[in-house]
Amino acid sequence: MKNDKIIEMDMGTSVSENIGTVCLGIESSCDETSAAIVDSNRNILAHIIYSQIPEHQKYGGVVPELAARAHILAIDTVIRQTLERANMTINDIDVVAATAGPGLIGGVLIGWMAATGIAQSTGKPLIAVNHLEGHALVPRLAAATADNSAAPVAVDFPYLLMLASGGHCQILLVRGVGKYELIGQTLDDSAGEAFDKVSKMLGLGYPGGPIVDRRAALGNPRAFDFPRPLCDKPGCDFSFSGIKTAARTFLSKTDAPYSDEFINDFCASFQASVVDCIINRLGHAMKSAAVINAKPKTLVVAGGVAKNSAIRAAMEDLAKKHNMIFAAPPMNLCTDNGAMIAWAGLENYRIGNIVREPIAPRPRWPLTEL
Ligand code: KG4
Ligand code: ZN
Repeated sequence: MKNDKIIEMDMGTSVSENIGTVCLGIESSCDETSAAIVDSNRNILAHIIYSQIPEHQKYGGVVPELAARAHILAIDTVIRQTLERANMTINDIDVVAATAGPGLIGGVLIGWMAATGIAQSTGKPLIAVNHLEGHALVPRLAAATADNSAAPVAVDFPYLLMLASGGHCQILLVRGVGKYELIGQTLDDSAGEAFDKVSKMLGLGYPGGPIVDRRAALGNPRAFDFPRPLCDKPGCDFSFSGIKTAARTFLSKTDAPYSDEFINDFCASFQASVVDCIINRLGHAMKSAAVINAKPKTLVVAGGVAKNSAIRAAMEDLAKKHNMIFAAPPMNLCTDNGAMIAWAGLENYRIGNIVREPIAPRPRWPLTEL
């Protein structure tokens, strides 16, 4: 493991003197090996992310076998460095948490076994965190407005959540820790997958989301007439495979190499269709009986796709129209990270959700099964 691939997250300047219950969180479900130490007073005391993206880039996506090997090589160093950065030893930790699914099982097993080993050898409580719950709850650790400009936003239950990552795309009513009501979900691809595939078709690289986001900002969103699947139908479900097929059809009519202007316009038009679908489906969700009855005050976006500038801005507008507060995690807590696992660990610890007998990590683990 080379040191130049380690990202140490900026913790800001606001670590309070008052340290609460301290949790070590470990994430290894995809292509980031990450650990963080977070306390119950919302302080991120240390946070290390080792990104494997350079290792997978030449294959155009994550190769599970390579990811698992890279996690094995990185995990000890990442945990040790996290403790060092927080000026702590394992004895200063109160709770140990790790992702126990869903995700690439080879990677999940490595983080889970590391956490189990630490918990068993020290007698500390162990928390099995659902990776999606990590994304879903991290806005309660830290949340910002669409452009990160204003003061932190407090996110209280219940809230309406757009959870969009590389593997998932769901609208959820978050009633509490472990209490998720599914309002809508994708029938095929996730939003992140659509971004990644369009980027691949254009030869722009992996992961596609950030690249397409950047190029879209330079293009004309009306240049290509992408479909808005399901937007003329009732309900809150998504379908992104039609958008992907449309992308392929448009590209089959133009020879590569594509001009910068073509790529920018293509990305802008594609992204506009994704944004419209998200806003349309969230609009329907707000009119659903479950959401009307629960009266959530906050509209939240989370998951890697929550980094998308156009999606953040459009959701902030939608929230305003419905007299709701908009909240999104700061950019560095949207994609996979250890801090979200540590925070979800603390939230589960608070309600006594501790592992008391051996559990098997799960490649599939819907939030609604918590
Ligand atoms: O949550 P995440 O880190 O991993 C999963 O749990 O899947 O999400 C990764 C996904 C990738 O598909 C990536 O392309 C997408 O998040 N992503 C974005 C942006 N940044 C990352 N999608 C759109 N716009 C972005 N700026
Ligand atoms: Zn994720």
